Amino acid sequence: MAVPEAIRRRVEQLRREIEYHNYRYYVLDSPVISDAEYDALMAELRRLEEQYPELVTPDSPTQRVGAPPSEAFAPVRHEVPMLSLDNAFTDEEVRAFDRRVREHLGVERVDYSCEPKLDGLAISILYENGRLTRAATRGDGFTGEDVTANVRTIRTVPLRLLGAGWPERFEVRGEVFMPIEGFERLNRWTLRHGEKVFANPRNAAAGSLRQLDPKITAQRPLDFYAYGHGVFPREKLPDTHHELLDRFLSWGIPVSPLREVVQGVEGCLRYYRRMLERRDSLPYEADGVVYKVNRFQWQERLGYTARAPRWAVAHKFPAHEATTVVEAVEVQVGRTGILTPVAKLRPVQVGGVTVSSATLHNFEEVKRKDIRVGDTVIVRRAGEVIPEVVKVIVEKRPPDAKPVEPPERCPVCGAEVVADPGGTLIRCSGGLYCPAQRKAAIKHFASRRAMDIQGLGEKLIDQLLEKGLVRDVADLYHLTAEQLARLERMGPKSAQNLIEALEKSKHTTLARFLYALGIREVGEVTAQILADRFGSLERLMEADEAELARIPGIGPVVAKHIVAFFRQPHNLEVIEKLRRAGVHWEAEEKAAAPKPLAGKRFVFTGTLSSMSREEAKRRVEDLGGHVTNSVSKKTDYVVAGENPGSKLDKAKQLGVKILDEAEFLALLRQAGA
Ligand code: IVH
Repeated sequence: MAVPEAIRRRVEQLRREIEYHNYRYYVLDSPVISDAEYDALMAELRRLEEQYPELVTPDSPTQRVGAPPSEAFAPVRHEVPMLSLDNAFTDEEVRAFDRRVREHLGVERVDYSCEPKLDGLAISILYENGRLTRAATRGDGFTGEDVTANVRTIRTVPLRLLGAGWPERFEVRGEVFMPIEGFERLNRWTLRHGEKVFANPRNAAAGSLRQLDPKITAQRPLDFYAYGHGVFPREKLPDTHHELLDRFLSWGIPVSPLREVVQGVEGCLRYYRRMLERRDSLPYEADGVVYKVNRFQWQERLGYTARAPRWAVAHKFPAHEATTVVEAVEVQVGRTGILTPVAKLRPVQVGGVTVSSATLHNFEEVKRKDIRVGDTVIVRRAGEVIPEVVKVIVEKRPPDAKPVEPPERCPVCGAEVVADPGGTLIRCSGGLYCPAQRKAAIKHFASRRAMDIQGLGEKLIDQLLEKGLVRDVADLYHLTAEQLARLERMGPKSAQNLIEALEKSKHTTLARFLYALGIREVGEVTAQILADRFGSLERLMEADEAELARIPGIGPVVAKHIVAFFRQPHNLEVIEKLRRAGVHWEAEEKAAAPKPLAGKRFVFTGTLSSMSREEAKRRVEDLGGHVTNSVSKKTDYVVAGENPGSKLDKAKQLGVKILDEAEFLALLRQAGA
């Protein structure tokens, strides 16, 4: 059956529209239609393609889910070799680079294009007549591997170019990388499924891109920034590198928003310092910055050495990795009894911070990496991630290095250790009889996002448990100022403050209360879903597994944990005690009351003078709003207090509405809080 011309045209139009919206969303971070409208366009395209399969092309937006797996990657010979960069580690080395450049060119001052150096892997993408036709890894610089099917799954890489003026045939070169958040999510997933965790985002990106099954790649949170060109007709090149990147962007190809042109070497060094300061708050890992002579004519005059261009240099940040020695392995007992091995290390500087312990994740990982006490290991810390041991340097293993065995009994309470059904994790079976679990449960209960009991820190909880003043979380509300004042490092004033904090915490929300109870697998989001759905604790406690499992966002496992929790007499007792002590939340009337901020997303940055961050959060939530941690295009308001952080920049960049404290208070008043 021939495809009607009108259908053919509609399919083309849908693809063009979807590509444009992908670009607005993924590359510019500023969508012009809602998610629902976008979904409707995709649905229509999918329907038409199903009806007329002959219209499906590999560059259709519907094909991003990944092509069928292949046996191996075909080799690709690079027409223009993919070289590496020379490194500079000190200001002096950067100055020497700039001196060589200026002498070679015989000029006084050079403008440099500066960009972050992303830690991923280099890719060359060929566009022919505006369509992505091939993508290859760097390989040895001369021959790489054909990873076209995988690169097609990366949402930000355009399958067809936008705008106009692109050469008929050219290569874009850039870095494929995995943002830190996605990397952590992926590792949490692999850990839960008993698979090997990735040592760092770069390995995760490389492993994901070199998957023979593109469907797996499609599920991995990969991203891409272009930083240069390969094959490219000389006469079509603009005058400068910076202009080329601007053109890429206008064709829908993502480039780093942090790129900048600076004057001379001092400009480079200032750029370096600014980026170094922001390093830990960037959403991806950068291992340095790259300076490139901005004018192509000058780049050509400078040329190449055997391995790298003379017109560019990478100025590296201090390493995220360092070598040190494992002095001991301790076992920590978490809130739900999970036993986590932790390496105690000879203190070492990593990326500007002293590290003396690192998580080993679980005993399977210890076995896999064969970590022994006495081993010399590579440790790594990046951003806000907990330091971890990447690998053992086996050559340096002393003969008396001691292997690490999983304990058979809980090191804290002596209860039997049981394997989790999943297989990788082991757990103390002592439950709330285990002091470690009890302590962790109290700490969690008091934490900021739970009951927010200010001033109840770890040391204090230790003392309360040791002195037998507290056995469960409900006992906290029976403490007296006199009892507290007798504890170490507590005066009458701090005792009184804690009593007041406890009093204040009694007024909470159902979601916070549910989260604070520490039901397994019930995090903040799940707690909120439950609170919204049931509106009251009693209703939730009556729900059975089937009813719970039907709720979107709650799976059968979570449902089981919830029911099991409310079946435990001990838990019911504690809940009863808490309520008798006066813990309460706005009841159903409030839930039914209008929620003027319903659906609105808030992000806070900086310090508010009139209330704590937690109180602000509670007030927004009482009015139906949500508070999240990071700014995205879905954020409705960013509230900026004193000394705001990078979230404010992000908000400006995305055009999110920014409120100062006075405006925020006015909004609350207006909304009736
Ligand atoms: S320019 C001729 N710019 O760093 C080589 N490279 O150490 C041109 N990289 O293989 C490379 N960010 O994978 C350039 N903004 C950036 C970069 C960058 C990351 C990687 C790239 C390269 C490696 C060299």
